[in-house]
Amino acid sequence: MSEQSPKSPALSNLSREERRFEPPAELAAAANVKEEAYARADADREAFWAEAAERLDWGTKWDQVLDWTDPPFAKWFVGGTLNASVNCVDRHVAAGNGDKVAIHWVGEPDDDTRDITYAQLKDEVSKAANALTDLGVQKGDRVAIYMPMIPEVVVAMLACARLGAPHTVVFGGFSADALASRVTDCEAHVVITSDGGYRRGAASALKPAVDEAVEKTGDLVRHVLVVRRTGQDVAWDDARDVWWHDVVDGASAEHEPEMHDSEHPLYVMYTSGTTGKPKGILHTTGGYLTGTSYTHWSVFDLKDDDVYWCTADVGWVTGHSYMAYGPLANGATQVMYEGTPEKGRWWQIIQDYKVSIFYTAPTAIRTFMKQGREVPDAYDLSSLRLLGSVGEPINPEAYMWYREVIGGERCPIVDTWWQTETGQILISPLPGVTAGKPGSAMKALPGVAIDVVNDDAESVGNGNGGYLVIREPWPAMLRTLWGDDQRFKDTYWSRWEGLYFAGDGAKLDEDGDIWLLGRVDDVMNVSGHRLSTTEIESALVSHPKVAEAAVVGAADETTGQAVCAFVILREAAGDGGPDIVEELRKHVQKEIGAIAKPRQIMVVPELPKTRSGKIMRRLLKDVAEHREVGDVTTLADSTVMDLIKGKEGSAASED
Ligand code: PRX
Repeated sequence: MSEQSPKSPALSNLSREERRFEPPAELAAAANVKEEAYARADADREAFWAEAAERLDWGTKWDQVLDWTDPPFAKWFVGGTLNASVNCVDRHVAAGNGDKVAIHWVGEPDDDTRDITYAQLKDEVSKAANALTDLGVQKGDRVAIYMPMIPEVVVAMLACARLGAPHTVVFGGFSADALASRVTDCEAHVVITSDGGYRRGAASALKPAVDEAVEKTGDLVRHVLVVRRTGQDVAWDDARDVWWHDVVDGASAEHEPEMHDSEHPLYVMYTSGTTGKPKGILHTTGGYLTGTSYTHWSVFDLKDDDVYWCTADVGWVTGHSYMAYGPLANGATQVMYEGTPEKGRWWQIIQDYKVSIFYTAPTAIRTFMKQGREVPDAYDLSSLRLLGSVGEPINPEAYMWYREVIGGERCPIVDTWWQTETGQILISPLPGVTAGKPGSAMKALPGVAIDVVNDDAESVGNGNGGYLVIREPWPAMLRTLWGDDQRFKDTYWSRWEGLYFAGDGAKLDEDGDIWLLGRVDDVMNVSGHRLSTTEIESALVSHPKVAEAAVVGAADETTGQAVCAFVILREAAGDGGPDIVEELRKHVQKEIGAIAKPRQIMVVPELPKTRSGKIMRRLLKDVAEHREVGDVTTLADSTVMDLIKGKEGSAASED
């Protein structure tokens, strides 16, 4: 990836040492977390996390920090009770910070803005909790949320958390089918949505997808709660659909919260795995809130007067941990933006709101690099003091550009590695403590036991590569897969006894710093979003004209990886017709969502298979990345690759 990325002129001129970012002394002196934290956590990991948990408000304090007697099923802060929404709102109001802005919301069109204080957020969350109760939502019930980036999505999540009703937020870009499968899997009786949202200044609809999804789930869904965002016409089912403004706006702003068990489910977030069926990652309350709030405070070195902005959509885990729960539990002021990154718009927002901490994904940085530095140079970005990166390996060129052009060479960059499953950041530099190296996520955070091992689970040691594993439990770790303990064990804990297998390759450099190398399984990373090759293959094969399909993630200059598909058509479909490629791309969009739409589809006569019938994706990847095809000796029929190469370019479509 890195060799194809847009070059920053700075990088080639700098030596390895010059590329290092050594934290300035004043940053170190003022840092929330100091060097000593590593040793302290090593000496007593549980005491370290207990101290982090003390930063929260508990109803009842825990009796035991960690119960790991039945691995891999962890229990953190056993016997403790708390309420996540109280920790995210009420306690800040009680502490006299009710007038502090929680969310500077920036909508599209751009004159549409709202500033919401913690006191207002508390009222809104309480009203929504009362309204949900009236709709029959009880503790333990699951609620699906399918919304754009508007404040009500945060209100909805916190209202669910308040009631102890685990939410499952489904990214608004996912299709009706994807929504239906998630609603079904976690048996949600209520879906919260909006009539639509704005993207690139134009209104797009959401409610029709919900209607279609609900239809597919039989009589499972009893109510659909709809926020009016765009005012567009929507189909309405009087018995089922309820307007948010009818039931929430008029509800009481008084709501007595119940304290929930530390291990009470907080939410389920579906993510792609190596098989076709998305996995429902379960996060619970006490450990998750401890892990996210502590890491948000330490990794971003959060101060009282910071203005923080995480650009992630709430439909992904980053939006949960570092837009909703982490920052709000810390009483931070943050920006929330409804739109997608457009030329200059983000920099305008940073300038207008004096954003001091900015957290985004490498794919966005690479897009901005292509636009040229004159775009951000036209804005005053001097309020920034810390930059973060997440979602995929950041190539050194993008890192240097970020540091130089956006960070003005003064802002440390925290390259944060974590996963939907980990819930919280696990590997990252600590500003003021750890040096930064372009392209390296550096070190496991205090209290986190990361290792890089070989096939036999032996540590590879400095200078070597292998598989990234986690040796000890951490507070925000997933507890299981919703309704599937066995799959939880098989997926993460079965490869090596007692080790969590992350699915990523990694290398330790000579200093022992960690360089992430991408996935080692059939999971792709497109624009920092996780997609399963198998899931897209299943979508393609569900099309009547397709007999077989193989999908690979090919290196892409901007999105990191791009979806490339190879399909064999059914005999009856002939050559599929002139629009076959577009037809199949649309089909994948309908089945999964626009993000999964292949960049390229090649219709081929055969797929490369081993004698045991396994598709050799490695060879297809060579074709998709326009490389010389690798070793074909293990193929059942080694002439297949010539047939595929002969087709290259003939049926490709890109946009
Ligand atoms: O491959 C790693 C990559 O993203 C995967 C997790 O994806 P997801 O659960 O969707 O969560 C994304 C946001 C946390 C990881 O297995 N990944 C995430 N952050 C980084 C990364 N790869 C390299 N460097 C990172 N900073």
